[in-house]
Amino acid sequence: MNKPIIRIPAEDLTRQYQQIRWEIAAAIDTVLPSGKYTLGPILEQFEHEFAEYCGAKYAIGISNGTEALHLALLALGVGPGDEVITQANTYVATAFAVNYCGATPVFVDIEPQYSNIDVKKIEEKITAKTKVIIPVHIYGHPVDMDPLIELARKYHLKVLEDASHAHGATYKGKRSGGLADAAAFSFYPSKVLGAYGDAGAIVTNDDELNHRLRVLRYMGQEVKHTHLEIGYQQRLDPIQAAVLRVKLRHLDFWIEKRRHIASLYNQLLQDLPIEIPQEAEWAYHVYYLYTIRCNERDQLAEFLAQKGIETQKIYHTPVPLQPCYRYLAYQPQDIPIAYDYANKLLNLPLFPEMNDEEVHLVSQAIHDFYRGKGQ
Ligand SMILES: Cc1ncc(COP(=O)(O)O)c(C=O)c1O
Repeated sequence: MNKPIIRIPAEDLTRQYQQIRWEIAAAIDTVLPSGKYTLGPILEQFEHEFAEYCGAKYAIGISNGTEALHLALLALGVGPGDEVITQANTYVATAFAVNYCGATPVFVDIEPQYSNIDVKKIEEKITAKTKVIIPVHIYGHPVDMDPLIELARKYHLKVLEDASHAHGATYKGKRSGGLADAAAFSFYPSKVLGAYGDAGAIVTNDDELNHRLRVLRYMGQEVKHTHLEIGYQQRLDPIQAAVLRVKLRHLDFWIEKRRHIASLYNQLLQDLPIEIPQEAEWAYHVYYLYTIRCNERDQLAEFLAQKGIETQKIYHTPVPLQPCYRYLAYQPQDIPIAYDYANKLLNLPLFPEMNDEEVHLVSQAIHDFYRGKGQ
């Protein structure tokens, strides 16, 4: 008899939907009959609940994570001629948001342990034009924020967390979103907290920023039809807010499932010539992605694909080396660790509804690959 063909996707949003479909339907059904399809009470409730979850005063719903970064930078005072420091290994949106303000992104290499911005390498990049630092809690592991904030305060810079990978992650017991002047979140569907479409938010403790961001996201209006400044049409939709309210109630449970899968992978993969993710003792990693590094990345990905196991090579080109940033003339030697890791990283399947058997199958296939190689 033929062996059954396995198919393990890198991510699968449909399994989760099947578990919560009635809650989702009921939540959407509170929005549709209300006739209130922009702004309104459901959005306000979500904003309140998400701010509370992050341990912060305010959350402002924005149409997506890219615009959350953009509007947050504008509200923090970034404009033409300014510089904003961020890390080389992020999603390109972190950098594009800087360009949308007419400013220039300045890229810093990463530290080798958690693949986050190397705080020790930031100071040499600070100039008179620097306004903001954007640490990205990459793959769900928080950045070491204390020394970063200390450095920012020394130079009177603002700090904006890009927390798009790190809903629920904690740094020294405090949740992401409440660790700096402001934080931008994406709720892109596959994120740790994901909507059913595009969605995002900015979180802050600052009264003035909160006020300015509400004006900026709604065509510069405080009161309808009076436009105080050139604003944007970038509100979070109440239908997505209703979905997010349901999902927020399950978030901690789903994060626990992610952590369980990650710890099983850690156990099963420990004796192989691959580097597995690490977690600092001050961190609570939410494993948005389970990223391994190995020299034979492409062959391994191909081998797994043939076995029906899907993997992803996200961020296989560091942002400063993307064609759109040729004008900044970065070279691989400017960001040696990010460059090296980009050629080695592979994301294994991980989503909260993945079962232990699937984790075992993926791990077994990786063992088979290395056994075959050794022969
Ligand atoms: C680190 C990071 N920043 C920003 C974004 C942008 O978010 P969105 O896709 O919601 O615009 C993403 C989303 O993929 C991201 O991963």
